[in-house]
Amino acid sequence: MSEVILVIGASGQIGTELVVKLREMYGTANVVASDIQIPSYDVMEGGPFELLDILNKRQIHKAIEKHKVTQIYLLAALLSATAEHHPKAAWELNITGLLNILSICTKQNIKKLFWPSSIAVFGPNTPKENAPQMTIMDPNTVYGISKQAGERWCEYYHRHHGIDCRSIRYPGLIGHKAHPGGGTTDYAVHIFIEALKNKSYNCFLDKDATLPMMYMPDAIDATIKLMESESSKINIRSSYNVSGMSFSPSELAAEIQKHIKRFKCTYSPDSRQQLATSWPRSIDDSVAREAWGWKPSFNLQQMTADMLSNLKYHL
Ligand code: NAD
Ligand code: SER
Repeated sequence: MSEVILVIGASGQIGTELVVKLREMYGTANVVASDIQIPSYDVMEGGPFELLDILNKRQIHKAIEKHKVTQIYLLAALLSATAEHHPKAAWELNITGLLNILSICTKQNIKKLFWPSSIAVFGPNTPKENAPQMTIMDPNTVYGISKQAGERWCEYYHRHHGIDCRSIRYPGLIGHKAHPGGGTTDYAVHIFIEALKNKSYNCFLDKDATLPMMYMPDAIDATIKLMESESSKINIRSSYNVSGMSFSPSELAAEIQKHIKRFKCTYSPDSRQQLATSWPRSIDDSVAREAWGWKPSFNLQQMTADMLSNLKYHL
């Protein structure tokens, strides 16, 4: 039986790139993009699109029947910085939204679900360097609390309802095809755009705020690898640590300066710095590497060169 995939939250930073990749792999007609917002031209014109609100179970139910969906990628969420300003809305979207989909999966016989978690599941007492797969998790942000609860729900539905839930704790993601959606790590995309446009950037994080980050092609690759792996290899049903690179704003600025000599970065940390301070600086992803062969391709130097050459073209 051919797979039909529904991507919910397809107009965001990840969906914009993931939908295109999934359509290359499964065929354009077999990947239905959906969101409450109109997506990019490539997503809209490249295959089916449904305007769907994850909080409206009836709408989701009808779309699943209409397209005979067999798998769901659930990307709709409020990210860390926005969630701190709208805690109730964040809980509603991130947790009620997930529970809606988990319950629809059991009722409509959808066997496979991808749902992303985040490095925000870690908290101030998690080891700062090489945060292990299993460790102290005491998130103190609304977003982190919702992601930790989401991990527990995914594992629960796997155990009690046999849903093939698969998940990755994405680090901060950097890509050139879509704007980031309100996270603490958004600076690492904004800095490139401002460096090219204005040769200067005022960063909202401290110059030394080192965080785990990943280039979008690696994030897409990790997602597909995880979803394509045999079920027997998936030994974690909460969410896998995956790591790409770690850097601070000043290290990223120095790397950009190698390409744009006049670029100047200044620092005015705001409330997002507190979120960054609560997260680890680096992640141990050895469990994902061993279980399903995860390996990143991009380091800081390669990512910076690729971002600048692609953005130069777009801008
Ligand atoms: P994003 O904010 O760019 O996109 C989210 C999309 O969800 C938006 O297009 C939005 O319109 C849509 N949406 C919002 N409310 C909706 C609703 N009620 N119904 C349907 N769609 C709705 O987010 P992203 O960066 O693409 O992240 C996708 C997922 O990955 C999220 O779960 C996020 O927590 C996770 N994640 C992202 C990062 C990152 O750096 N981008 C890092 C860790 C985890
Ligand atoms: N990039 C995300 C954020 O900052 C991490 O989950 O919210």
